[in-house]
Amino acid sequence: MTKYFVYLSGEHISVAKAEVNTLARLLEVDKTIRWDGRLGLIESHKNPVPFFLERAAMIKEAGVVLSEVDAQYDLLGNLSDDVLTNTIRPEETFSVRTISENGGFSVKKRLGFEASLGERIKKVVGAKVDLKNPQARILIVFTEGNIRVCKSVASKLRLMLRDREPGRKSFFHPSMMNSTLARVMCNLAGVMPGEIALDPFCGGGGILCEASLIGAKTIGIDLNWRLLTGSKENLVSTGNDYSIIQGDIRSLPIHRCDCIVTDPPYGRASSTRGAQAIELVEALFGKADLILRRRNESICICGSSEMNIQDLAESMGLVVNQVLQIRVHSALVRELLTLGV
Ligand SMILES: C[S@@+](CC[C@H](N)C(=O)[O-])C[C@H]1O[C@@H](n2cnc3c(N)ncnc32)[C@H](O)[C@@H]1O
Repeated sequence: MTKYFVYLSGEHISVAKAEVNTLARLLEVDKTIRWDGRLGLIESHKNPVPFFLERAAMIKEAGVVLSEVDAQYDLLGNLSDDVLTNTIRPEETFSVRTISENGGFSVKKRLGFEASLGERIKKVVGAKVDLKNPQARILIVFTEGNIRVCKSVASKLRLMLRDREPGRKSFFHPSMMNSTLARVMCNLAGVMPGEIALDPFCGGGGILCEASLIGAKTIGIDLNWRLLTGSKENLVSTGNDYSIIQGDIRSLPIHRCDCIVTDPPYGRASSTRGAQAIELVEALFGKADLILRRRNESICICGSSEMNIQDLAESMGLVVNQVLQIRVHSALVRELLTLGV
């Protein structure tokens, strides 16, 4: 078995861990992930790294662990020349960086490791250093008990998500879900290519765009025609099938979907035309059993903690799998829930 790692981006750690855990389940990586701060370790026969980097919004980098020693032993002595020559080709450029989790090791010591390993790679492999744009990224991760040398790949998705923020989309509205959270929610609901993903409060299509870019066929419903036209404008560039329907959640005009990823109206940016947001969620939950083809962890919903979505879901017989909190500011905590029917 090979040991792989992921290193989280640092915001909303519990949400980031939940995202990675769900992706590992989707990939059927049988082993659980061992977490050490922002570092997640997985031993597996199957390489999960390409899937993680393609899908996860909150992974900064990921790769393979080349060598691992107890912090009191000699890391570089334990790292064989063969590992280095099998990892980096002579014609490649490389960088060596260090990160420290849980406060392990002084900066001086870390820089010392960085320099020694860099010199060793130059000598043994013959590769050249390029700190800005290396072809092979070597990462030394220090934790309280261990030092690990890893070969790492940086996430490209995080940059792409930044380019897809609502303000950069063809159509913008302040009620739109930001691209990172939209992607995390799609992952928590286990959206897979070819599935039908529904957002019954789709607005300008923040969530729908991410589901579509994952490869799902999307259905968006909203009361507001102007927002629906905007979401259509945003969805065109994703190149996947979509349906946009003007309608009210209280008379849901669809029959079947595989998963629901949504955020009901709350705050000043979205209008409910007089209805209570929680009543709209109740209307959605009342229909979930009928319309969902996939039963487990097939709903991801985001609302303010004041809405008590968990209590409502439980009282209506839905299975509450996860409740994750995101503190927006002192007066607003968003809750992300994953549910099944
Ligand atoms: C928070 S916004 C949705 C943002 C969107 N999910 C996204 O990904 O960008 C909530 C949306 O719910 C819509 N809405 C309000 N009442 C509704 C109802 N009864 N049925 C369907 N949509 C409704 C609003 O027009 C608004 O666009």
